Amino acid sequence: AIERTFSIVKPDAVAKNVIGAIYSRFEAAGLKIVASKMVHLSKEQAEGFYAEHKERPFFPALVEFMTSGPIMVQVLEGENAVLANREIMGATNPAEAARGTLRSDFADSIDANAVHGSDALASAEREIAYFFTADEICPRTR
Ligand code: CMP
Repeated sequence: AIERTFSIVKPDAVAKNVIGAIYSRFEAAGLKIVASKMVHLSKEQAEGFYAEHKERPFFPALVEFMTSGPIMVQVLEGENAVLANREIMGATNPAEAARGTLRSDFADSIDANAVHGSDALASAEREIAYFFTADEICPRTR
């Protein structure tokens, strides 16, 4: 089925000037960018977005990193978009990411891991709504 998923190009990848390289991977895989913007998260925004990880030991470092510089947030649309994007990204830890994936090619550590992608359809809906209003999303089904 055609799905939408939520994606972030994290501060490390923006700093490396690989926004376009990462967008090209999405497009080459048939995922369409239907909403996109650059933002610099406040501490409160980062804490809210990652609220499910609040009790994890890595939470403070995660919030620190995600507020360290601008990010790109985007909505990707396509067949099985949630799983397709997870395959393009590779494993969370770049040391474990398969060759040719975004994390293998662009990430430096489990914290500075280049990209985020929704892990399921329900989280995709929640994460999209966290950053985009309905009128900021441009369906491209043709
Ligand atoms: P992301 O998909 O953005 O979701 C939470 C982030 O926490 C994750 O990517 C990693 O960058 C970061 N993180 C740091 N340590 C861990 C860990 N041990 N397990 C999972 N995520 C971690």
